[in-house]
Amino acid sequence: MGETVIAWEEVFTVGTDHAVITWETPDAPGETTVYIGPSRAQLEKRVLAFQETYHWAEVTGLRPDTRYWYQVETNGVRGPLGSFRTLPAPGGRHLFSLALFSDCHISAGIGSGDPNERYFGKLLTHARELLLHGLEDARRRGVDLAFMPGDITEAALPEQYKEVRDEVLPAFGNLPCHICPGNHDKYERRSPGGQGVGARGFWEYLGKSRNLYKSVRYHRHQFLLLDTAVRDIDHGWINAQQIDWLTQTLNHNGQHPVFLLLHHPVTGPDLWHGLLNPGRFRKAVRAFPNIQAVLCGHMHRCLVAYGAPEETPYIELPATVQFPCGYAIVRVYENGFTYNAYKVSRPDLVDKSRNRIIFGAVGQAIYTRYAAGGVGDRNLARTREGLIHRPVLFEVFVRLRRSEARELCARAQPSPGAAVAPAEQGDRVRVVLGRHASWVDATDLRRTLEYQFGLRASVSQDGGYNLPPRFRKLWGGTG
Ligand SMILES: [Fe+2]
Repeated sequence: MGETVIAWEEVFTVGTDHAVITWETPDAPGETTVYIGPSRAQLEKRVLAFQETYHWAEVTGLRPDTRYWYQVETNGVRGPLGSFRTLPAPGGRHLFSLALFSDCHISAGIGSGDPNERYFGKLLTHARELLLHGLEDARRRGVDLAFMPGDITEAALPEQYKEVRDEVLPAFGNLPCHICPGNHDKYERRSPGGQGVGARGFWEYLGKSRNLYKSVRYHRHQFLLLDTAVRDIDHGWINAQQIDWLTQTLNHNGQHPVFLLLHHPVTGPDLWHGLLNPGRFRKAVRAFPNIQAVLCGHMHRCLVAYGAPEETPYIELPATVQFPCGYAIVRVYENGFTYNAYKVSRPDLVDKSRNRIIFGAVGQAIYTRYAAGGVGDRNLARTREGLIHRPVLFEVFVRLRRSEARELCARAQPSPGAAVAPAEQGDRVRVVLGRHASWVDATDLRRTLEYQFGLRASVSQDGGYNLPPRFRKLWGGTG
């Protein structure tokens, strides 16, 4: 067994009553232990598993809108002592919950050769396994219905649609599952050998009508699924017919809460081909304040932006097939909802994806920030009066050479503890010494550590690459 180092420690999910923290101890399997409590002096030890290398720790029984201190431990080595705040409860009774599985890319063993597959760890050979594992996780969380907003198949090949029909959809059993297509589901010439059946696959294999957009009602809530995919093109487009339908349906719906689901993001400029006419969409939805959220896939990352109508969260969902190999759960209450992204509880596969990203450690560092986003890109609550609460975490860290990092990690035991991750410069390691929900606390910690260890630490908000909101507004993507 090698030396124990806590690596890639991440507070991935923060709910109203639970949190999920993940980390790795490469070459040194050991127990998965979390210390957690309402103050640093009152930490309760919870041992959650034994002999793991990839640690996936869910702590439950937490109170809403409460600060918790935490620290992880394996083989007596501790991660950074930090704190986070749980989400506030939206208010009123919990009505129902829904699961979202996006960008599953069921492949039947055949890839389409896109850049994600070649360079960014898209795990096609595990596509079905990841989705089914996520489904099992979501069921344990007690969901009432599920949605798959696109890129259900890798390249719209008949064998892939067959795999969805015969191996995937039956696994949902009596859990209702609603789907809409993504760009990959409309590949024809773009498929290997030009053998894709595109939208026809949806009709013929999955028994859908020719209109691939639809409205679903549940518990006096409405879910509108749109079809933004275009044959053999990766960009999205929302046609006039759907804009009319969307406007009419929203008008007809009255005041009931509405969730919109579509494959392509509508937040303006992006790296990977979003909706080309986001202005049409924005104009159509602007007058409907009962829209709760706009949920989309396609980007294979966690990101929350805001858009029309005023301050509505536009949420990009993680992909199941690629790091962070995630799904999401929306818990709907009388006065709002919570949104949480989760890694599928197969941390070995999650890290297999991350390890396949090109450019080694630097590539992993950059891609992790892109795909996992910040804690507020993975978790949010909408409470009474439509207020959006998104957690933040400020990290206190130093970038050091490997040998110096090892030495600091040892000196930092057991308090304040430390975790490592690759830095975005090739020869450096990022040593995280603490993580807090407020910048003031993080800055205080930095000062203490500078005094204690004589080093110059930095503070930064965790994760997430995004364009400044003003730039997005200028572009006209979101309003
Ligand atoms: Fe995708």
